[in-house]
Amino acid sequence: MIRINENYLKLQASYLFSEIARRISAFQEAHPDREIIKLGIGDVTRALPPSCIEAFHRAVDEMAEDSTFRGYGPEQGYPFLRNKIATEDFQARGADIGEDEIFISDGAKCDTGNIQEIFATDIRIAIPDPVYPVYLDTNVMAGRTGEFHNGRYESIVYLESTGANEFIPDLPRKPVDLIYLCFPNNPTGATITKDRLQSWVDFARENRSLILYDAAYEAFIRDDSLPRTIYEIEGAREVAIEFRSFSKTAGFTGIRCAYTVVPKNCVAYDGNGAKHSVHALWNRRHSTKFNGVSYPVQRAAEAVYSKAGRTQVRDRINYYLKNAGLVRQKIAALGFECVGGEDSPYIWIDGRTNSWEFFDMLLQKAGVVCTPGAGFGRCGENFIRISAFNSFENVQKAMARIKIALKE
Ligand code: MLT
Repeated sequence: MIRINENYLKLQASYLFSEIARRISAFQEAHPDREIIKLGIGDVTRALPPSCIEAFHRAVDEMAEDSTFRGYGPEQGYPFLRNKIATEDFQARGADIGEDEIFISDGAKCDTGNIQEIFATDIRIAIPDPVYPVYLDTNVMAGRTGEFHNGRYESIVYLESTGANEFIPDLPRKPVDLIYLCFPNNPTGATITKDRLQSWVDFARENRSLILYDAAYEAFIRDDSLPRTIYEIEGAREVAIEFRSFSKTAGFTGIRCAYTVVPKNCVAYDGNGAKHSVHALWNRRHSTKFNGVSYPVQRAAEAVYSKAGRTQVRDRINYYLKNAGLVRQKIAALGFECVGGEDSPYIWIDGRTNSWEFFDMLLQKAGVVCTPGAGFGRCGENFIRISAFNSFENVQKAMARIKIALKE
């Protein structure tokens, strides 16, 4: 008799974005004539930058000739891309990261979900609330939590982000081993200063913990005083892994390319207290379970670093930031408090009411899709998240419809 991994039974019924998609389909089926504007999942809507498309095409043409065709590439990614990332995203900002510390992958979702595999199951984990659900669910699947009660899993240290701490969690009161952080934050859109991030790195060094730093939204930072990478912070090389993605940066959600930085100084311990290289463990896992991102996609990602590519990427992000600014302005004018939307594509709105009810109301009355805050954790219960990924015209239209819906 084949038995299941019973940890899966502890999970909430469905993955947040699948549940939202289900509700949208049901609504669309019942109202085929209603036009829906999606400001829910953070999926980009603008086409890939022309520089990426040209590089993509050229690489596909190379695959058409025996002399330039490529089969399996290095699991960790092609040197041309790893080198660009190390020099442009890190060394140019004074962050000491080498190309052999970069692992190219098909998504930050997969990497942030898979990384926990290399750590013991009985470690203490600190996870923000609200949080991108992948960090929590993958730890539930791995058996690191107890049961779910009152919106919380047993054995997790929750790092609450609320209005009281300006949506930047306080340091845990007790030592923890693995700490998940995400800035600019998903879902709140909050950003962290260098000083605050330094306090997390210091905490990790004092407690021999490791920070998993999700910087998938780094490209949205416009405030130059904010850290673009955790490796701008002193001591981070010893205690932090960083996740980045081309998805939101350059519109790669449909073609998949991301990377994870694992510095060679990061260590973790076995049961006897002996040190092990986290880089070596991740490399072992990655080369065993992953066969690399396709060559044309990596060439397209490389083009993000060309002169034209940079300008095109910046224009796209500015476009979404303009949307975010409009959402903030309109929502504030309606009397709601919100955070985010300034160095981030997400606006986190205190809806002052049950977030799934708010979600359903916006869908039914306005035909607008948001993301209910409760899907990100108990602290999100009265919040909704609006994403800036859509056309400016649709965002304008959505805001006008929300205004009417709220008056009804
Ligand atoms: C989100 O909407 O939170 C993200 O798009 C989800 C993701 O990147 O997987």
